[in-house]
Amino acid sequence: MLIQMTMSSECELAVVTGASTGIGAATAHELARRGFHVLAGVRRDRDADAIRAPGIEPLIVDITDPDHVQTLATRVYEDPQRRRLRALVNNAGVGVNVPVETYPLDEWRCLFEVNLFGHIAVTQALLPALIRAQGRVVNISSVGGRIAMPTYGPYAATKFSLEAVSDALRRELAPSGVRVVVVEPGAIKTEMPGRAIATAADLASRMTATQRQRYGALVHAINAQTDAHSGRGLPPQAAADVIARAVTVRHPRTRYTVGREAALLALVRVLPDRMLDRMLAAALRPYRANAMAMSASATSR
Ligand SMILES: NC(=O)c1ccc[n+]([C@@H]2O[C@H](COP(=O)([O-])OP(=O)(O)OC[C@H]3O[C@@H](n4cnc5c(N)ncnc54)[C@H](OP(=O)(O)O)[C@@H]3O)[C@@H](O)[C@H]2O)c1
Repeated sequence: MLIQMTMSSECELAVVTGASTGIGAATAHELARRGFHVLAGVRRDRDADAIRAPGIEPLIVDITDPDHVQTLATRVYEDPQRRRLRALVNNAGVGVNVPVETYPLDEWRCLFEVNLFGHIAVTQALLPALIRAQGRVVNISSVGGRIAMPTYGPYAATKFSLEAVSDALRRELAPSGVRVVVVEPGAIKTEMPGRAIATAADLASRMTATQRQRYGALVHAINAQTDAHSGRGLPPQAAADVIARAVTVRHPRTRYTVGREAALLALVRVLPDRMLDRMLAAALRPYRANAMAMSASATSR
């Protein structure tokens, strides 16, 4: 039997960003259950009230707001019980499915502010504490951090970037004993797919007639596929268990996957690009056929 060596939490601190819902909320509860004092970043007072529990202390943290990041850092460095910071879980994220051509440039920048620069800001602010504690940075990427499906360009660009930053950081921090771990979930049943579909519908309504002709059916198909995948997705607890393992196991791996789609990642390493293109197109075909039938019947009405 494989015995996983885990480190004792001895009531250390853990920071989880984006803890209002989904994977972040489940992770905050799981780490608290394992004895950590969790500083749970949320953006609204009502989310703070909802997540507050034994071992979970909510903090208002929009990771794109430098003042919020500073307040979080001050809370960590001035902990009244002088507890060590064992882990920073960079989890906050925004999903969007939109063709590269149609996504306004200022919205690309906003997406990167949350999914990449916000994580860098929080990491920079907390690194001295993590180095002192020989703690962990756990970055929540995605299967989309290694495969960019059509309409996933902006989201995947942020996640590919987060993967690159994680690799560099892991190598930079190895001598100081800080471990940097990437977690790559596949479909998890959270608010994100619904939020991404709503954003995609809004963006689609702003497409020009030519863009709608070029991408309309694709966007419909991807939304239907996203909806179907998330319906079959794993519960957030499955991701929380893996993240908690990345935080507590004595010798963490550099990457953990969660969910069925993780199998795709093994294929990416061995398949030529064109073959992967064909596989992804084939997986989308049933949803494309439905989308085309729907748009044909809408036009004929
Ligand atoms: N669900 C999946 O299938 C899936 C798959 C792969 C990877 N992931 C990744 O897993 C992570 C968690 O996603 P989830 O599925 O749990 O989605 P979710 O339920 O939508 O949670 C996203 C969290 O991020 C927070 N957030 C958004 N913008 C923020 C900002 N500027 N500052 C601080 N927090 C912010 C949200 O807060 P508000 O409630 O205030 O908006 C929410 O707490 C994300 O990084 C996502 O990319 C998810």
